[in-house]
Amino acid sequence: MEVVIAPAPELARIAADAVERLLRARPTAVLGLATGSSPLAVYDELVRRHTEQGLSFAHARAFMLDEYVGLAADHPERYRNVIEKEIASRVDFAPGAVQGPDGLAQDVTGACADYERAIADAGGVDLQILGIGTDGHVAFNEPGSSLASRTRIKTLTRQTREDNARFFGGDVDQVPTHCLTQGLATIMAARHLVLLATGRGKAEAVHQLAEGPVSAMWPATVLQHHPHVTVLVDDAAASRL
Ligand code: GLP
Repeated sequence: MEVVIAPAPELARIAADAVERLLRARPTAVLGLATGSSPLAVYDELVRRHTEQGLSFAHARAFMLDEYVGLAADHPERYRNVIEKEIASRVDFAPGAVQGPDGLAQDVTGACADYERAIADAGGVDLQILGIGTDGHVAFNEPGSSLASRTRIKTLTRQTREDNARFFGGDVDQVPTHCLTQGLATIMAARHLVLLATGRGKAEAVHQLAEGPVSAMWPATVLQHHPHVTVLVDDAAASRL
């Protein structure tokens, strides 16, 4: 695990560099996209490079980490719509090239299995962008998630719903109670993991991620077993290292 401590704008550039290197070497690369505020500066930087320097996503594909269950198709906080707004519609992905778990599926188990198959059929994820929750969750793998888990339905913890209430007008009751999320084993199968964390609120989670014992109670600690992880943190998030 490589840990880089730098100011936030520099972290975004480092993450964008990794994506750009991959896409220039292999235009058909498969990216893993995360929601949350942590990757937003990376997406802005990638859009800038697309617009100003011709970085192309035209032959690439992307898979999202997770999705809320039950949000209407046009709900602005549905992760599919968030990813569309933050990056997919701002670069030149081909139609259908960005996929996410179907949070409106009737057959949830079938939808999760289909999603795993789609990732495998694409050849797996080359570079996965990740954030981390204050409780150490990655994607929506909350504390207690099996380290061997695959895409499935999960209940969101109160903490995560409170953390995410800011996206729902500050009202925790508007935050869905369930999600579909790639499992920890799904995420671990990506070839390069790039995790971003900023702010003091992430300090304990980052401490556990880098220095804690591997435990389902801090799901991100499973990344210690991955051969190629880049952890990008600012001073505040690194303050407990
Ligand atoms: C959500 C997402 C995660 C994300 C986490 C942290 O729960 N499902 O993928 O990493 O929030 O979000 P933020 O980057 O906004 O702190």
